[in-house]
Amino acid sequence: MADQHANGTGRFSGQVALVVGAAHGIGRAIALRLGREGAHVVIADLDCPAAENACREIYDTGSDALPLACDVREASQVEAMVQKALDWQGRIDILMYIAGIAPSVPFLEVSTETWDNTIDTNLRGAFLVSKAVAPHMVARRRGKLVFMASTNCWDAEATLAHYNVSKSGVFLLAKTLARELGPYGINSNAVGPGFIKTRLTEPVLRDPEFLKKYGPERGLIPLGRLGTPEDVAGPALFLASEDASYVNGVLLFVDGGQLA
Ligand SMILES: NC(=O)c1ccc[n+]([C@@H]2O[C@H](COP(=O)([O-])OP(=O)(O)OC[C@H]3O[C@@H](n4cnc5c(N)ncnc54)[C@H](O)[C@@H]3O)[C@@H](O)[C@H]2O)c1
Repeated sequence: MADQHANGTGRFSGQVALVVGAAHGIGRAIALRLGREGAHVVIADLDCPAAENACREIYDTGSDALPLACDVREASQVEAMVQKALDWQGRIDILMYIAGIAPSVPFLEVSTETWDNTIDTNLRGAFLVSKAVAPHMVARRRGKLVFMASTNCWDAEATLAHYNVSKSGVFLLAKTLARELGPYGINSNAVGPGFIKTRLTEPVLRDPEFLKKYGPERGLIPLGRLGTPEDVAGPALFLASEDASYVNGVLLFVDGGQLA
């Protein structure tokens, strides 16, 4: 494969990437691709057995990987996880914040618990992790931050007020860090996937009523198909790469043209 790094020439050879929320779905595809392109990859996730499985796939490509258990809702766990990631190779060059949940509940029924849990996982977790990693990047005067936002930052999907708000917050966090950390040589950007086939979207993909309204055959996605985790991995890695060294504070939609 063109991106294999057996000879040490991969795009991310020698770099250390911390991917938070990478045991499944989009994060997993990003972590595997980073491994294939030569990075040392830390996979931090709530689901530790699945993180270990993903790491095994990375070892098979010849890269190093480290699984770390972490619930991003817990500040003490985030601090311990980031410290272990730093201790592993002595640095973090790339942070990808991917962890997220999206429970679908109409606004009139949403509980405070669901609201808080969604904001804590998607937004507060992004704050905690980037707050723990940023000082080390600032000290080295280099680093790439990539946050997983969503088309829902822009398009307010019904039954997902808590999710929509969390993802708008993530995008504004990415933009604010672009301003505050740019002077230290750090790039901060966000990716906004549209409808991607993962565990997260499995329930709605099984719902014929949802598909009748939003399915690809409705013409809402000009490319005419749902996305895959791999469709998102490439653009996310681009934002972490040297090719994007002058890209700072953007939201890159990866949605088959849904918002066009
Ligand atoms: N699938 C889509 O259509 C879509 C669209 C736009 C944005 N996104 C975003 O992409 C990201 C990944 O979603 P996905 O579709 O791959 O879903 P997924 O459920 O397959 O992956 C989410 C990952 O986050 C981890 N996670 C959840 N809560 C956590 C916690 N408290 N602490 C640590 N890890 C935790 C999960 O274990 C899992 O590995 C999410 O932020 C999601 O909002 C997904």
